Amino acid sequence: MQRTYVHPLPVRIWHWINALGFVLLIVTGLQVRYADILGLLSFEMAIKFHNWIGFALIANYFIWLLFYLLTDKVSVYHPELDARKYFNDTLRQIRFYSYGIFRGEPNPHHVRPYAKFNPLQKVMYQIVMLLIVPVQFGTGLLLWDVTRFSSWVEALGGVRVVSTVHVLIFIFFASFILIHVYLGSLGHTASAHFKAMMTGYEEELEEAPPAAQAG
Ligand code: HEM
Repeated sequence: MQRTYVHPLPVRIWHWINALGFVLLIVTGLQVRYADILGLLSFEMAIKFHNWIGFALIANYFIWLLFYLLTDKVSVYHPELDARKYFNDTLRQIRFYSYGIFRGEPNPHHVRPYAKFNPLQKVMYQIVMLLIVPVQFGTGLLLWDVTRFSSWVEALGGVRVVSTVHVLIFIFFASFILIHVYLGSLGHTASAHFKAMMTGYEEELEEAPPAAQAG
């Protein structure tokens, strides 16, 4: 078994606060939206919790962002980006998840300290963290106090537009968590990736040397 340190402490702290916070935001968000159907807590309490958790997660986001911006990760991750190689690697990864995994083939992606994500994770995590999460935090902030931010809200097309975007992204995240947790369970054991996000170390089965494979 080969152990590779891939999730430094700031990323792990950010991740688990974020995961818990998103689940609570989904529950309190549903309570705000469907106050007459769900009876988990009062409408006022649901709004209060939803706002405070939202603010905590906006602050928490900066642990993730600043960690990647202020360490060598960003400059080391990107120079190796080669569009053709990236495209081929993506196709190989899609083939693995839709076919190879069911035939017991090994994962084509091998975790290394500066290559912890497969091509699908790379593109998905960047879209989520650099686009969708900030838009969700931004629309949440505007809806928190529509009077204070009225000029922004109007510039974006009004409360209806801002709240529709917020709800659509909520639906995206409710589905994202389910798919993300499913994909998280596809390590060499069902719990391997979850353990890695707690200890920092990803474990992979070491490949046998060619001579041993032939034998
Ligand atoms: C119950 C909730 C969640 C669980 C159990 C969970 C689990 C995991 C696991 C096991 C990993 C490491 C393996 C992998 O990269 O696939 C991971 C990474 C990641 N997760 Fe989650 N997750 C949850 C919620 C979320 C949410 C709500 C978000 C974003 C809004 C998120 C964003 C990410 C990102 C960006 C990474 C890569 C982090 C990095 O190394 O920079 N996760 N998650």
